[in-house]
Amino acid sequence: MSRLAIDGGSPVRETPYPRGRGIELVDGEEIAGVTKVLEAKALFRYAYGALGTSDGVEAGLRERFRVPHALAVSSGTAGLYTALLALGVCAGDEVIVPAVTFVATVNAVVAARAVPVFAEVDESLTLDPASVEANLTPRTRAVVPVHLDNVAADLDPLLEVARRAGISVLEDAAQAAGVTYRGVPVGGIGDAGVLSFQQGKNITCGEGGAVLTTDQSVYERAAQFHDQGGQFVTATGSREHTAGVPTLGMNLRMTELAAAVLDVQLGRLDNVVTSCREHARTIRTATTGLGLRWRRMPDADGEGGSLMYFVSSPKLADRHAAALRAEGIPAGRMYDGMPVYLNQAVVDRRTVWADGCPFHCAHHPTNHRYGPGLCPRSEDLFGRSVIIGVSPVMTARDCADVALALHKVTAQLGD
Ligand SMILES: Cc1ncc(COP(=O)(O)O)c(C=O)c1O
Repeated sequence: MSRLAIDGGSPVRETPYPRGRGIELVDGEEIAGVTKVLEAKALFRYAYGALGTSDGVEAGLRERFRVPHALAVSSGTAGLYTALLALGVCAGDEVIVPAVTFVATVNAVVAARAVPVFAEVDESLTLDPASVEANLTPRTRAVVPVHLDNVAADLDPLLEVARRAGISVLEDAAQAAGVTYRGVPVGGIGDAGVLSFQQGKNITCGEGGAVLTTDQSVYERAAQFHDQGGQFVTATGSREHTAGVPTLGMNLRMTELAAAVLDVQLGRLDNVVTSCREHARTIRTATTGLGLRWRRMPDADGEGGSLMYFVSSPKLADRHAAALRAEGIPAGRMYDGMPVYLNQAVVDRRTVWADGCPFHCAHHPTNHRYGPGLCPRSEDLFGRSVIIGVSPVMTARDCADVALALHKVTAQLGD
């Protein structure tokens, strides 16, 4: 086997590699959609002469995700924040989140002034239902399964634990639009679900998100909250969601420009997910003989194309990622292989609020502490994981290059 590129050998490839998902497919259709909105001079959803683009996106989301209610919002984080409040999460409540996720999941919980409680992930790198159960207390109000990197969390047992405990399930499907669990799109299975359309996601409008729910009252509260509490009952346009008594709220609305891009991207979602799934499978099949320990998938039929595997130590995971990158393959260590509770702001329980809520709150005393050893299994598993990027526009040659690089790196470094 030839010398590794990281040791001075020739790399498997020197040509650039496609990295993005939906963003790679942007073409004249998205440009035409944005142009139409600009020509109408109605960039705001409720402007005079607005084209109803955000309304159209919500209709498309309802159909594609098979839910009766969908709300377009300004980001996935805004969606999580809105959904938590709409589900009734209050200051001082506990919300169970996985040890492995992007910090946005935690930020939304803290923004709602609730206390994040971290549960273990298993070999799927998604929430372990037994650990959720073990972390329940009388203050637990909700659990947030995160469908990390296009793999669905094991929702059936999670829903069962939540139902028994009488808590809400908010799916964080930011990284998994179009992924299915038992044939149903994730995001539309729990009490509420959230998608992200930030640039790196399966489909994108730069920044954007959506709240999905089957519960009309959750939808109404979310719609009202995200639009200044529904204060605009006399405004023009179609603010149908302002039927209730106005409250105080926020502005977390999507713009018509973003909606115009998203409207086109939504039509590309099936292609993105199917292509990425095929590419990931091709690469796993081509490397079967290596015996790589791929992450477990609670429902492999519905994955959206994820390539994450475990090696024997964090040090070796660093070396695998660096060696693959040197070969020209987009590999890495997701979130540096660290559980989110080791983020220094979480460890220090540092927020922007002067009163220290929810961590140092006079009204809702809590003694939660975050640091190494909190979820040892998650630390071990995630610490030994390597991720390889998958894109819908990868060619057969790109897939073959990944497989070749995996053979080369594994042969030299072991696993
Ligand atoms: C798991 C997870 N949740 C939430 C978010 C937040 O989405 P956004 O960036 O649209 O606010 C992200 C974004 O990367 C994410 O990965």
